[in-house]
Amino acid sequence: MASPDVAKVASAPVIALPSTSRHGRVELKSWQPSYAPSLAASLNNRAIWLQLRDHVPSPYTLANAEWWIDYCSKSQNWPNVLTFDEHGIETIGAKRSCHFAIVTQNPTTGEDEAIGSIGLVHGSDVARRTAELGYWLAESHWGMGIMGEVVPMFMQWAWEAFPGLIRVHGEVYATNGRSASVLEKSEFEYEGSQIGAAWKDGRIGHMLTFACLRPGLGLSGLRIDRSVSERN
Ligand SMILES: CC(C)(COP(=O)(O)OP(=O)(O)OC[C@H]1O[C@@H](n2cnc3c(N)ncnc32)[C@H](O)[C@@H]1OP(=O)(O)O)[C@@H](O)C(=O)NCCC(=O)NCCS
Repeated sequence: MASPDVAKVASAPVIALPSTSRHGRVELKSWQPSYAPSLAASLNNRAIWLQLRDHVPSPYTLANAEWWIDYCSKSQNWPNVLTFDEHGIETIGAKRSCHFAIVTQNPTTGEDEAIGSIGLVHGSDVARRTAELGYWLAESHWGMGIMGEVVPMFMQWAWEAFPGLIRVHGEVYATNGRSASVLEKSEFEYEGSQIGAAWKDGRIGHMLTFACLRPGLGLSGLRIDRSVSERN
């Protein structure tokens, strides 16, 4: 069993929204075994599942929640922090967790409960300096502006935590206006659509790609003309 000190460190907020925020205390924390019931209760929702990939089970049970929390707690499942010096020489650093619970306090018990999730899935091979952003929020908390505040703060954390990252992208079903809106107000740029790229709930879906590029690299807004690739 973890010592009290370890448990305390693990439950410290990674990111806390400003206390002036209009929805009370919302924090990002490492996944804790105690969040399993609230995770299962929040994510066992078809409206959320319809916007996620099929590796998320539906219905979503307590056992599924326990599996996810266990997965997130094991450092062998975390990506390595990559760094690159001015000559492009790559160093593979320590592993670092990058999936967090979005937590608020239960008004009755005062206990933390998970109302959502946010995290990165890092690319491999030539895409190893990129990651895909994923998130969801309990339906009872939609439309309060929470994710519009969480995503920019998470991105600030991500650029610092993973200094080798160049690009973070989000893949959104074309029918998911809420998520597209969250990304656009978090400084992700719309890059384009992939027609027929998804098969979800027995239907053909179209995907929209949004990307956020590391500030200071001068890549934001860059457009590549197709004719350039034809000439080379
Ligand atoms: C997407 C999701 C995280 C949004 O969280 P949220 O906290 O409700 O988002 P916010 O309140 O910060 O912002 C939602 C925005 O969508 C807008 N919106 C609401 N309904 C909309 C609709 N039908 N079409 C387009 N935009 C819509 C809101 O006006 C708001 O934008 P604004 O702040 O500029 O007014 C949440 O709806 C969710 O978990 N959905 C299911 C899972 C999911 O889609 N995950 C992302 C997969 S890519």
